[in-house]
Amino acid sequence: MMIMLVLLVQFLISVCNGESFDQDFKITWGNDRGKIINNGQLLTLTLDNLSGSGFESNKEFHFGKIDMQIKLVPGNSAGTVTAYYLSSQGDTHDEIDYEFLGNVTGEPYTVHTNVYAEGKGEREQQFHLWFDPTSDFHTYSILWNPQTIIFAIDEIPIREFKNREQMGIPFPKTHAMRLYSSIWNADQWATQGGRIKTDWSQAPFSSTYKNFKAEACVRFGGTTSCHPQTVNWMTRKLDGSSIDRLNWVRKNFMIYNYCIDNKRFPQGLPKECNAID
Ligand SMILES: *[C@@H]1O[C@H](CO)[C@@H](O)[C@H](O)[C@H]1NC(C)=O
Ligand SMILES: *[C@@H]1O[C@H](CO)[C@@H](O)[C@H](O)[C@H]1NC(C)=O
Repeated sequence: MMIMLVLLVQFLISVCNGESFDQDFKITWGNDRGKIINNGQLLTLTLDNLSGSGFESNKEFHFGKIDMQIKLVPGNSAGTVTAYYLSSQGDTHDEIDYEFLGNVTGEPYTVHTNVYAEGKGEREQQFHLWFDPTSDFHTYSILWNPQTIIFAIDEIPIREFKNREQMGIPFPKTHAMRLYSSIWNADQWATQGGRIKTDWSQAPFSSTYKNFKAEACVRFGGTTSCHPQTVNWMTRKLDGSSIDRLNWVRKNFMIYNYCIDNKRFPQGLPKECNAID
C-alpha cells in the first residue's frame, strides 16, 4: 500500500513538472555519458577525454514555442561547447541554433546563435549573458512560427530572425525539425579564439537539462497535429516592451553580429541586414 502511494505521488510529481525526458528524448551517442535521471525529470550530458554525448527528440516539430531549462558546465569550462538546436535533415536543411561556448572560471560564457535556411547559415550573432548560466537553471526558448523566429532567455528576447521571403531571403518553413543537444570538445576555436585549451584534469564536464516544454505542432507519420496552446504563439511577433528588452540585450550584451561584419562580406552584407521595419 505504502509503495503504491509512493509510486502514485512520484507519478503525479512527474506529470505536474512537465514532460518526461524518457518519453520525449533518446540519448544518441556517448554511451553512458548521457543520462536521464530522477524519474525522467533531469537529463545530463557529459564530456570526458574520450567522448562527448548527445540526445535528440523523438518528435519532429513544425513550428512551436519550445522551452528548455539548462544549467551549463560550471567552473573551468574552457574548450567545451554545449549545443542546443532544432534541425531538419538533408542537404538543404534548416537549423535554429544555440551554442554555449565555455570559458575559464570567472570569464563569461559566449552564447552563439545562428539560423540556417535551405542549407545556408552564416548568420551568427553572439552574446554574453546578464547572469551566471552555471549557477542555476535558466530557460532557453525558441519561438518559431511562419512570420518569425525569436530566441529568448528567461523570456527576454535576444534575437529575432523575421520571415523576409518577399525580399527573396529563404526562411525555415517547409521542413519539420527535431530538437538536438550535445556537448563536445571544440578547443581548437571555442574559447578566446582557440587560445585556451580544455583542461582535462577538470573532466568530466556536464550540462544539465530539465522542464522541457513544447507548445508545438508535431509531425508524425505524414500528418501534423498542434498543441492546444498554438494560438499563443502561431501569430506572435515582438511587441513594444519586448522590442525594448531586445534592444537592451543588443546594446549591452551582443559581442558579434554578422550584419555589421563588412570584412567578412566584401561583396556586401546579406540582404536581411539592410531591411528596415
Ligand atoms: C582519460 O582520463 C582518464 C581519467 O582521468 C585517464 O585515466 C586516461 O589516461 C585518459 N585517457 C587519455 C587518452 O588521455
Ligand atoms: C571568454 O572570456 C573572454 C575575456 O573576458 C571574452 O573575451 C570571451 O568572449 C569569452 N568567451 C569565450 C567563449 O571565449
